[in-house]
Amino acid sequence: MPTSHTAIVILGASGDLARRKLIPALSRLYEHKQIDDSCIIVGSGRTVFSDEEFRNRFEVSRDFAGQLHYHQGITGLKSYIKSKGIFDQVIFFLALPPKVYAATAGQLYDEGFGEETRLIIEKPFGYDYDSARGLNRHLQEYYNERQIYRIDHYLAKEAVQNILVFRFGNSIFYPVWNSNYIDSIQINAYESIGVEDRGAYFDGAGIIRDMVQNHLMQLICLLTMEAPVSLDPEEIRAQKINILKALRVTDCCRFQYNGYRDEAGVAPDSSTETYAELKLFIDTYRWNRMPVYLRTGKALHRKGTEIGMRFKKPPRLLFNKNGDINPNEIIFKIQPSAGIVVEMASKVPGSDVQIIDTSMKFCYIDSFKDEIPEAYQKLLLDAIKGDRTLFVSALETELSWKKFGPFLDAGNLNHHARGTAPEPCLYKEWINFDKYDSLCR
Ligand code: NDP
Ligand code: BG6
Repeated sequence: MPTSHTAIVILGASGDLARRKLIPALSRLYEHKQIDDSCIIVGSGRTVFSDEEFRNRFEVSRDFAGQLHYHQGITGLKSYIKSKGIFDQVIFFLALPPKVYAATAGQLYDEGFGEETRLIIEKPFGYDYDSARGLNRHLQEYYNERQIYRIDHYLAKEAVQNILVFRFGNSIFYPVWNSNYIDSIQINAYESIGVEDRGAYFDGAGIIRDMVQNHLMQLICLLTMEAPVSLDPEEIRAQKINILKALRVTDCCRFQYNGYRDEAGVAPDSSTETYAELKLFIDTYRWNRMPVYLRTGKALHRKGTEIGMRFKKPPRLLFNKNGDINPNEIIFKIQPSAGIVVEMASKVPGSDVQIIDTSMKFCYIDSFKDEIPEAYQKLLLDAIKGDRTLFVSALETELSWKKFGPFLDAGNLNHHARGTAPEPCLYKEWINFDKYDSLCR
C-alpha cells in the first residue's frame, strides 16, 4: 500500500544532500509506488527558485517532477502547504548546517507546525556530550521526542539490519553469543577516499566523531544487545541503551594520513585524526572481560566495512594438542558487497589427520536478486510511516558522546602514508579482513 497524505518538506533544498540523496530517494519511492500522488514534496530555503527552476535541478520523471514544489523560507510555509491540500502529517528534513537545527525547530513551531509535525535530523548531532545534550533540550522545547527522527544511515544498511535476524532468528548462535565462547569482537571500517570537499567539516570533527561515536557504536549495540521483548522501536532502543551504559572505552591511538593538511579547508597544522584504533569493554555479565576492537579511517588502501566475531580456540586435546587450530570466526561483510562467512576447521581428505581452515559463505548477491533499497529511501519511508526503529534516540546519542568524550581530540597523533593502513597499534592479532574484499562481488 502506498503511503499517502504527507507533505515532505526539505529545508536546505538547494544543498548537496537534497540533490544527491533525498530527491533521488523520494523519486525511487514514487516510481516504486511506495508514495503516491497525495504526497507532495516541498523544497525550502533562502534561495529563490520558481517551482520550474527547482524541478529542473533534478533528473527525475515528469510525473514525479509534478510532485515537487518550492517555497522560499519558513515564513508563510504553513499556509503554502495548506493551499496544496489536506495532509495528515508534515515531515521536515533538516538538510541544513547543524548550527541552525535548534533555531529552525523554533521557527517551525512559531510558524504553527505542531502535533502533525516530524523532524528528520541529519548527523552530526552535537559535537560532544554537552552540545548534544543542549541540542536535545532545545529541540524538545518545541517537539516531543517521538516527533524527532535522528538519522544514522548505517542502521538502514540491509546487512546491518540482518545482524539482529542472524542473532535472534537462528537458534544455533544464541547460546554461544557471550564472552564464555567469544574471544573478541573486531570492527573494521575502511574508506579509500580522503576528506575530498568536506575538509572544513572534517577538520573540526575527526574520525572518532565522524564514524565511531555514531555508526560504529550502532554496530556494537546491535551485535551485543540482549533480545528485546518485542520489535517495538522503544524496546530495541532500551536494549541498545543498556549496552551504551555498560560500555567502557579503555584505549585509543590516532593517526593522520600524510597530505591531509594540504586538503582544502584543513588547517596547515591540523592535529585532527583521520584514522583511529580503539579498544573497549562492555561491562555486563554476557560480555564480561571480552575486548571489542574498532578501527576506521580515510585514505586507506580499500573501502570496506567488516565485523569479525572471533571465538575461543578449542581445548588442547584431540586435534588441537599443539594449539595450532585457528579459532572459528564469523565475519559479517557489511559493504561494499554484503554477506556472512563462517570460518571453521576441516579435515583434509586422506589417511592422515591434517586440518585446514575452510569457510561457509552466504552472499546477498547469490540469494537475493531484487535491488537493495538505498539507505535514504528506507529511512524516508520509515519516517513517513512513523517507524522509529532505524532512528537514534536522544539518550543513545548522549550516552555515546559521554563514553567517547575522554578520547575526543586527545592523545598523540601519528602519521601514515596515504593509501595504506597504519600498522595495528593496540591489538596485533586483527583478523585479516582484506582477504574478504573480493568476496560476494
Ligand atoms: P550544504 O552545505 O549543501 O547546505 C544545505 C543548505 O542549507 C544550503 O543549500 C543552504 O540553502 C542552507 N543553509 C546554509 N547555511 C544556512 C544557514 N546559516 N541558515 C539556514 N540555511 C542555511 O549541506 P549538505 O546538503 O551537504 O548537508 C546538509 C546536512 O546534512 C548537514 O547537516 C550535513 O552535515 C548533513 N550531511 C550531509 C551529507 C552529504 O552527503 N551531503 C551526508 C551526511 C550528513 P539556502 O542558501 O537556499 O538556504
Ligand atoms: C558519513 C561520514 O556519516 O559516513 C563520512 O560523515 C563517511 O565521512 C560516511 O564517509 C561513510 O558512509 P558509508 O555508507 O559510505 O560507509
